[in-house]
Amino acid sequence: MLEVKNLSVNYGHASALRGINLHVAKGEVVAVVGRNGAGKTTLLKAITGLVKSRGQVSYDGQSISGLSAHHIVRKGISHVPQGRQVFGDQTVEDNLLLGAFTIRGDRKKVKELMEKEYERFPRLKERRDQAAGTLSGGEQQMLALSRALMSEPEFLLLDEPSMGLSPLYVKHIFDTLIQLKQEGKTILVVEQLAMAALSISDRAYVLQSGEVKTHGASEEMLENDEIIKTYLGIA
Ligand SMILES: Nc1ncnc2c1ncn2[C@@H]1O[C@H](COP(=O)(O)OP(=O)(O)OP(=O)(O)O)[C@@H](O)[C@H]1O
Ligand SMILES: [Mg+2]
Repeated sequence: MLEVKNLSVNYGHASALRGINLHVAKGEVVAVVGRNGAGKTTLLKAITGLVKSRGQVSYDGQSISGLSAHHIVRKGISHVPQGRQVFGDQTVEDNLLLGAFTIRGDRKKVKELMEKEYERFPRLKERRDQAAGTLSGGEQQMLALSRALMSEPEFLLLDEPSMGLSPLYVKHIFDTLIQLKQEGKTILVVEQLAMAALSISDRAYVLQSGEVKTHGASEEMLENDEIIKTYLGIA
């Protein structure tokens, strides 16, 4: 479904990604794990057209390299950025409505999708009229995810959904990803919390200093002490 070939990104003279190859098949959950500064955020931004890159990115067999971020959303790809970035002075409900911009004309559909998100995260429903900036970190992460789902994406890109969350919220968010897979979504998630990401994904890539060092079935990687020690720094 998504295919990235020989992707490179430079920031000025500094190279952030070099020759990345990866793919995500329909219905898969794929994780990209790596430490601070490995290039995880840059990879997602390059896929969704937020930074300039060299190489090829194709989606459903069509090149999306060079398309604007706006056009990429319309193809069915939604990006939940690192640090959540909800609109803090707007209400929870307004944030959800902003996520539905691709189907704005269809009020019935918007209402339906919103109810689905409120069912998924009842806390958001309780806080529908509250300014998003006053939500807790975990609640903001739920809102960011729900907002992305309001454009009915087939493909979700998530940038460190665990960031700043307590273990309980991390579990809640990761359980939600498993549920989304069951709903038929395809997911690419980048994470520093390697063990958590490996335990919910089908396959994974290890990114270090802008390069893919290894990849494989997540289950096998979880059992491979060598990989865990060498690249992920957790025994
Ligand atoms: N706009 C920018 N201008 C210059 N350098 C940048 C820019 N954004 C990122 N970088 C550099 O590119 C490298 C990769 O950064 P990136 O944000 O992709 O890493 P990351 O894996 O997402 O890290 P983290 O886990 O801390 O979020 C880092 O060395 C970073 O300093
Ligand atoms: Mg990052």
